[in-house]
Amino acid sequence: MKTHVVYFSATYTTRAICEQIADAWTSETQVYDVTNDDSLREVQIPSEDVLVMGIPVYAGRIPTMAVERLQRFKGQHTKAIAVAVYGNRDYDDALLELTDMLHANGFQVIGAGAFIARHCIFPQVATHRPDAEDKVVIDRFATRCHTLLMQETNHLPTIQVKGNRPYREPGKAALRPTSDEACNACGKCARLCPTGAISLANPPQTDNEKCIACGRCIVVCPTQSRNFRGEIYEGAAQKFNAAFGARREAEVFYI
Ligand SMILES: Cc1cc2nc3c(=O)[nH]c(=O)nc-3n(C[C@H](O)[C@H](O)[C@H](O)COP(=O)(O)O)c2cc1C
Ligand code: SF4
Ligand code: SF4
Repeated sequence: MKTHVVYFSATYTTRAICEQIADAWTSETQVYDVTNDDSLREVQIPSEDVLVMGIPVYAGRIPTMAVERLQRFKGQHTKAIAVAVYGNRDYDDALLELTDMLHANGFQVIGAGAFIARHCIFPQVATHRPDAEDKVVIDRFATRCHTLLMQETNHLPTIQVKGNRPYREPGKAALRPTSDEACNACGKCARLCPTGAISLANPPQTDNEKCIACGRCIVVCPTQSRNFRGEIYEGAAQKFNAAFGARREAEVFYI
């Protein structure tokens, strides 16, 4: 049994959680990071293998630009695990959207989880998550999924996860990060930006129409030059921290 790990993960928390799940059982692993890579066409995942697919939650949904890339993975009644990672506000319809997408593309979802990680726009919320407690929960989830993967069953029930159809309208984040005088024009942010929004020739220059506020440029910048700034951001952060600072816990679902 080979494990295929597929994720969109701008600030690397979804990646970390998917990898922890796949590492919990010994198997050959193949990783597809579609965050900054639009080159893959259709990828067939054979029935005897397993897929772990992870997405961050953006405005309660799968990030719009991730949907098309993730749709290219096709199963042949292949068993799959769905992972949604969110910044402690809510995951709304994102996990349901992901399990629906997997079923439509030939997968049988046997386990699904919504896990909490540092909020990439408001990092004072869920700052150090996933933490040690989360890791125990993630390991337990992985172990239970592994038991289900080992069961010989032809007719699997359809997993029931939290969420509503029709899904909520996709939102568009209004906030945009900027560079300050610490920028040394190394170009790392421009090379790693998933949407190509940052000018390689002049990195402080950002195309705000292309930017999806994913936060990657902030976490990869070696000089801490990139950040969300300004009065509007500070006000929004204060309100967000007050409303969504209370710790939430992971929610997991099985067939
Ligand atoms: C545009 C945008 C929208 C977001 N919307 C939500 C949301 O609806 N609920 C939530 O709890 N977190 C939300 N977040 C936070 C991310 O889900 C969270 O930081 C996640 O850990 C990011 O995953 P990554 O590290 O793999 O990029 C949002 C982040 C961005 C950039
Ligand atoms: S990664 Fe940081 S230092 Fe490098 S170009 Fe981008 S903002 Fe400037
Ligand atoms: S410029 Fe926008 S889209 Fe590009 S990495 Fe930064 S936050 Fe993400």
